[in-house]
Amino acid sequence: MQIEADTPAGLTTRPLAEQVYVNELTTNQQAWFVVAEAPATSTLKGDLVGFAWLQMFYDEAHVMNIVTRPECQGRGIGWQLIQALLAEARRRQAICLTLEVRASNAPAQALYRKCGLQQVGQRKRYYRDNNEDALIMTLMLGA
Ligand SMILES: CC(C)(COP(=O)(O)OP(=O)(O)OC[C@H]1O[C@@H](n2cnc3c(N)ncnc32)[C@H](O)[C@@H]1OP(=O)(O)O)[C@@H](O)C(=O)NCCC(=O)NCCS
Repeated sequence: MQIEADTPAGLTTRPLAEQVYVNELTTNQQAWFVVAEAPATSTLKGDLVGFAWLQMFYDEAHVMNIVTRPECQGRGIGWQLIQALLAEARRRQAICLTLEVRASNAPAQALYRKCGLQQVGQRKRYYRDNNEDALIMTLMLGA
């Protein structure tokens, strides 16, 4: 929640209430989270520097959120988080990894393209805060 709070508004979805995370982490068997920790020897001393959240919808793995702490961006953490989500999606035998991303969020789109996702559609005015369109990006997970 702190990492989300430190992220400039208008990039992800809105910050979520603590109880949402508690429920997702403790009761939702279809949700899976991965966190990135700074090395204990670094100035951040083992702090969380990023996280990603996967939700299975039937046989589709949906990326609900992915965030790297602002001062730690550009060091490969986002790429590693997506690789972890892809491994978990495959472990759960998902047919694809899919997500929505704001049309204006070029860094996130570049990350997803680097990980093999492609734009497969668009949702008009998907984001309620500014009526921004979402791009739907997907990677099919073949056998
Ligand atoms: C999107 C986000 C998670 C990327 O995390 P990151 O740890 O900085 O990503 P990485 O360092 O692993 O970068 C991997 C690739 O993403 C792309 N990328 C990352 N930051 C970028 C930027 N500022 N501009 C352009 N491309 C960028 C590049 O393709 C990069 O590969 P490269 O280093 O070989 O050029 C991060 O910018 C973030 O937390 N943004 C705010 C929250 C957000 O927008 N989440 C996505 C919601 S859909």
